[in-house]
Amino acid sequence: MAQLTDRSVQNLLAWAATDQYKIGRPMTVTLVTGANRGLGFETARQLVELSHTVYVGVRDVHRGETAAATLGARFVQLDVTDDVSVRDALATVDSAEGRLDVLVNNAGVSGFGEVDGPTALHVFDTNAVGIVRVTEAALPLLRKSSNPTVVNVSSSMGSFWAVTNPDRPEFNLSAALYSASKAAATMLTVQYAKSHPGIKFNAIEPGFTATDMTAGLGGGRPPAESAKTVVYLATLNADGPTGTFQDEFGKLGW
Ligand SMILES: NC(=O)c1ccc[n+]([C@@H]2O[C@H](COP(=O)([O-])OP(=O)(O)OC[C@H]3O[C@@H](n4cnc5c(N)ncnc54)[C@H](OP(=O)(O)O)[C@@H]3O)[C@@H](O)[C@H]2O)c1
Repeated sequence: MAQLTDRSVQNLLAWAATDQYKIGRPMTVTLVTGANRGLGFETARQLVELSHTVYVGVRDVHRGETAAATLGARFVQLDVTDDVSVRDALATVDSAEGRLDVLVNNAGVSGFGEVDGPTALHVFDTNAVGIVRVTEAALPLLRKSSNPTVVNVSSSMGSFWAVTNPDRPEFNLSAALYSASKAAATMLTVQYAKSHPGIKFNAIEPGFTATDMTAGLGGGRPPAESAKTVVYLATLNADGPTGTFQDEFGKLGW
């Protein structure tokens, strides 16, 4: 039989002192879309570290299962451009957890380069319509949470204030489809916040980050740094703000 060491006694006492032990508080149930790499992966990792039960919503089964195994998270197949996939993913969370506390709409594409109809449809389908698909499927589960929170990973490239301000780096960058789709993502955040006052909806500019999306631009800080801001908005208290657009320094201009 295993010896009860000083260390194991200390661990037991520490566990008994936690709120979770004392009041049987359930774990926070969180879904992060596009969580197999980049900002989504790091956000999921940090939320697992905070003891959330994290579902990584990933469109490719192999990439999703690998990410979940690496993170200690759970995998749901989720393509934000596919209604059936989104519906089935939320049904899986529902049958396992019965609710959703935190939704991070992170999945996105850049669409840098071509500006034409098919590319525009693809970029908007992913970056804006994807938020609508996932949020609509998640709303019944979010309503069952005592502190429901949605974070939409938007971009300052979608800020009219930033792209028209010569003092901002966005002023000199041209990315018509990406910027327009992120402006839509931010507006969706505001409109959802108005329509659902019992649920917090906030949009985030995570900061210029070195991921596959920005590889062609060069530079950017590590995803782990930027994910901290996403995690901050994903872990707001019940009386936290809603309908805001923020970066790490606070509210951003629209
Ligand atoms: N990096 C930055 O500097 C920066 C700045 C501002 C905002 N953002 C935003 O941050 C978010 C994450 O970007 P990132 O920089 O981490 O880019 P990334 O490394 O390219 O990751 C994008 C993620 O989105 C997923 N995705 C794309 N289309 C999807 C779909 N239809 N269904 C499900 N997942 C899909 C990708 O999955 P696959 O592996 O299957 O393709 C991947 O996991 C995006 O919304 C982006 O616009 C990034």
